[in-house]
Amino acid sequence: MVRTLVTGATGTLGTALQSRLTEAGHTVRAASRSPPAETTADVEWVTLDLAEGAGIQSALEDVDVVIHAATAPQGDTKAVDVTGTERLVEAAMEAGVENFVYPSIVGIDDIPFSYYEHKHTAEATVETSDLPTTIVRATQFHSFVAALLDSVAKLPVWPLPTGMQVQPVDVREVAGRLVDYATKGAAGRTDPVGGPEVHSVGDIAQTYRRVRGLRRPILRIPFPGGTTRAFRVGHATCPDHAVGTVTWDEWLTDHYASDTDDVRRHNQPAV
Ligand SMILES: NC(=O)c1ccc[n+]([C@@H]2O[C@H](COP(=O)([O-])OP(=O)(O)OC[C@H]3O[C@@H](n4cnc5c(N)ncnc54)[C@H](OP(=O)(O)O)[C@@H]3O)[C@@H](O)[C@H]2O)c1
Repeated sequence: MVRTLVTGATGTLGTALQSRLTEAGHTVRAASRSPPAETTADVEWVTLDLAEGAGIQSALEDVDVVIHAATAPQGDTKAVDVTGTERLVEAAMEAGVENFVYPSIVGIDDIPFSYYEHKHTAEATVETSDLPTTIVRATQFHSFVAALLDSVAKLPVWPLPTGMQVQPVDVREVAGRLVDYATKGAAGRTDPVGGPEVHSVGDIAQTYRRVRGLRRPILRIPFPGGTTRAFRVGHATCPDHAVGTVTWDEWLTDHYASDTDDVRRHNQPAV
């Protein structure tokens, strides 16, 4: 049996990885700073804090494969993504890990955003190590894009950088691809994983508004700066690798089905 350590196992990707790894025959060790109180017998939970450097060696004991999905986009990115990845890579080399799989993000070398710059540094740490590695870049997950729109949904108007281009993908499809690589062996830098369609943020917001039965106006805000410009020219997309199959519309319809039913039941808009 291949024992696979998933860092960031409580996160969006980490959660989607667990059952897929088990189904593919892996013995799963899941790591978090605070493992859940209730766990199932098929996943072994361990405590790991990459920023503190705590629990790394024991998490890697008898591990064959690592999928390193821990990240801190809103926290201390340097401590977790840069220093934490260095610590994990070093310990993985000592532990003789056979495949270190690193999920990354499309366009991080072309988009001047500090989280992406830290991800790019972490990629280099993985790639230049003596480990057998697999690096898989993906576009933004549907759930991530939806969470950004959820945060403006209650405003009377939605101020958005409508010209930015995104290509959202279903995290379950990204997890499936990562599990394939974790199962087949180290593959180096791989083709990126993109969602089925490239959209402008304006289109994305209109679909979100329709599916949720909302009516607020969308206000185009020309956010200045290099990050917005890089998104606008498509650096966060990979149209030649539109391998995901779940569209934004389908994902939203599925995700907000209960909301939409509620709106229909009361025959009125949700806001
Ligand atoms: N979200 C996207 O749209 C997207 C798109 C493409 C690629 N990716 C990449 O996919 C990977 C996973 O992203 P995600 O969106 O699933 O992340 P997420 O939901 O934010 O989860 C991050 C995980 O990191 C863990 N973590 C945070 N600080 C930690 C620390 N100090 N030590 C150990 N673990 C720590 C958290 O676990 P605890 O709090 O339980 O410790 C959490 O489980 C990342 O590499 C990300 O760059 C994400």
